[in-house]
This record gives sequence, structure tokens and C-alpha cells, in this order.
Amino acid sequence: MVMAAAGLLAASIVVFAPLAMAGWHITRNRVLFFSTIFFIILAAAVHILPYAPSLSRLVSSFHSTISSLVLSSSSSPSSNLGCLHSLYAINFFDDSDDEEKIRWAWTRKRSAAISACKFRELHREEALEFLSGTWIVVAGDSQARYFLLSLLELLLEDPAPLRSQLFKFHSDFSHTLEDEHLRVDFFWAPYAANLTSKLLELQHSGNGSGSSARSRSPDVIIAGAGLWHMLHVSDPSDYGASLRDLAAAARSLRAPHLFWLNLPVLVPGLLNTAAKREKMTAPLLSRYDEELGRSNLTLPGGDFRVLDVKEVSSLCGRGCTGDGMHYASAVYGALVQIMLQTLVLIRTSS
Ligand SMILES: *[C@@H]1O[C@H](CO)[C@@H](O)[C@H](O)[C@H]1NC(C)=O
Ligand SMILES: *[C@@H]1O[C@H](CO)[C@@H](O)[C@H](O)[C@H]1NC(C)=O
Ligand SMILES: *[C@@H]1O[C@H](CO)[C@@H](O)[C@H](O)[C@H]1NC(C)=O
Repeated sequence: MVMAAAGLLAASIVVFAPLAMAGWHITRNRVLFFSTIFFIILAAAVHILPYAPSLSRLVSSFHSTISSLVLSSSSSPSSNLGCLHSLYAINFFDDSDDEEKIRWAWTRKRSAAISACKFRELHREEALEFLSGTWIVVAGDSQARYFLLSLLELLLEDPAPLRSQLFKFHSDFSHTLEDEHLRVDFFWAPYAANLTSKLLELQHSGNGSGSSARSRSPDVIIAGAGLWHMLHVSDPSDYGASLRDLAAAARSLRAPHLFWLNLPVLVPGLLNTAAKREKMTAPLLSRYDEELGRSNLTLPGGDFRVLDVKEVSSLCGRGCTGDGMHYASAVYGALVQIMLQTLVLIRTSS
């Protein structure tokens, strides 16, 4: 009886205290967020006060109340942003030595939270339907180009004719799927400074000037640059400064969905030129990574959501790269699906 009353009290506090704190104009996600904070504080209290049995009983009833709240909400489509944290629970497997035969999948086992998210690769038809009417811009260095290639391999029935056009060295690219009103652009932008210029250009085209197809801002931008800077400039603080400029340009563009392709794991022994082996070292790479963290380009300080090339390339491992910096298509294919799944989660949660 006492336990039931305590449980009821706990449930009321968990649900109503955050509402009272943040006012009634609050989404379910925020309620969940605040509730989770409450839970973490209370869980910490259990460990700090092991000699207060009555308090710890109260706290454990909080725990079960919260657990059921979290589980019930993560299976409901309206509040599944919690699933974003599980997007990188993927496995790679290879049936042969052929780099192009490497496959990936979301991990099935793991925790109840992950299985509640039920990620599923989108197939061509689903991806086309989901993206119809959108303008997607991919911009950056060779990694961005590999990402674009994987995106087109998903969207196009026969991407082969576009491949040669796509891999014309250092060129831009544009393709529109008329039926779906889906436009995909690639801008070669090896340095972050090039990305900044491009974003400012797109911002101007968004005011109604320019051709009708361009008289708006892109809906999704996937960008990434850093390898060229590492090789040709090799100056982390200059890289950091260029990322801060880019962050400012992104703030003024206000595109709805911005993604940042971070730097991959580099495998020094496989780099194919002496200059790369000399410049693209592990210590320099980690200083470049630190500059990204400090720049406020990415969430939570900035507008870009990280598409974690580092994590995915590390999950795939050194067997997935031939030149120590570019990876098997499964890596970029997984990143494309992670991006799509992120957009799905955002859309179904808003
Ligand atoms: C990128 O920026 C560099 C340095 O500012 C410049 O020399 C180069 O022309 C730019 N490239 C493109 C494609 O805009
Ligand atoms: C486009 O609009 C933005 C913000 O409204 C403004 O800052 C920018 O100067 C405009 N660009 C042009 C070319 O009119
Ligand atoms: C990044 O954001 C944090 C928190 O808002 C701020 O303290 C810091 O100065 C910012 N850094 C840069 C480089 O803008």
C-alpha cells in the first residue's frame, strides 16, 4: 500500500513537475527529457545514500515508473528522437576479400531500447517517396563525393551512366528526377572556406533571384571538408577558423537539415603518397577533430548534425579501406541510410 502510494506520487511528480517547470506549452519530448534528468538525479541519489532504505525504496519506484514511460514512448512514433542515439549500432560483415562485397546491417540484439527503434533500410521506392519534392545538396571533398555516389546508387535504378560524370575530377554535378521533383546537387568544395562561399551563394539564390529551380534554399545539405586542408595546409587552428566562418554562414542560411561528414579513421600505412604519409598523421588528425569540436559548427552549439564517418569507418575497420582514407561503399551506404533514418525520426517526431 505504502509502495503503491509512493509509486503514484513518483509518477505524478515525474509527469507534472517538468510540466510545471517548463509551462504547459511543452512537447512530449521535452517532458521525457526533463523526466529523464529527474531520473538520473534520483538514481545518483540512490548511490550516494545507500543507508537510507526508505528513500531508496522510493527512488526505485521512480526508476520503474520512468522505465515504463521511456519504453512506452520510444515505441510510439511521436517521440522517437531517443532512437537517434542508436543509429550507429551497426555491424559490417564480409563474405569474401572483395572490399565491394562488404555489407552492413543494424544490430539486432543489443538492448530493448535499440530493438524498440526498429530501424530498417529504406529501399529505392521508399526513399524516393520520402524525399520527393526535396532539394538535396552534397558539398565537400572526395568523401562527400563518395557519399553522393551511395545516395545516387540508392535513388537511381541505373547509376552507371552517371558514375563517369560524377568522378570527373574536381567537378560539380547536378541531377533531377523529374517524376519525384527531386533534385540532387554536388559542389566540389575541398576546403571549408569553399563550403562557406557556397552556402552564402545558396543563401542569395534563396531570395528569389536566379532560375526558378534554384529560387529557394536546399532542404537538406550534407557537407564535409578537412582531408585537403590536412594535406595541403596542415594547420589545425586555421582549419578551426574556417569552420567557425562556416558555422556563421550556416546560421544565416537557415536550411532545415544540415549534416556534417566528419573525418574518417586514417590508416597511415595504406596512404598512397609520401606527402600523405608525412602530413596525415594520427596526432594531426586528432587536432583537426578537436578543432571541429571547438568550432560550434555541429550540434549542440551549431546547426550541423554530425554524420559520424569516424565511427562508421572505425566499425568497418582497416580491411574496408584500400588507400587509408576512402572506404568501401558499404561505409557510405550505411551513412546514407543513417541520414535518411535521422530525417524520418525528425519528421515523425515533429
Ligand atoms: C576553394 O578555395 C581555395 C582557397 O580559398 C581556392 O583557391 C579555390 O579556387 C576554391 N575552390 C573552389 C572549387 O571553389
Ligand atoms: C537574401 O536575404 C537575406 C536575409 O533575408 C539577406 O541577408 C541577403 O542579403 C539577401 N540576398 C540578396 C542577394 O538579396
Ligand atoms: C561555442 O559555444 C559555447 C557555448 O555557447 C561558447 O562558450 C563558446 O565560446 C563557443 N565557441 C566558439 C568558438 O564560438
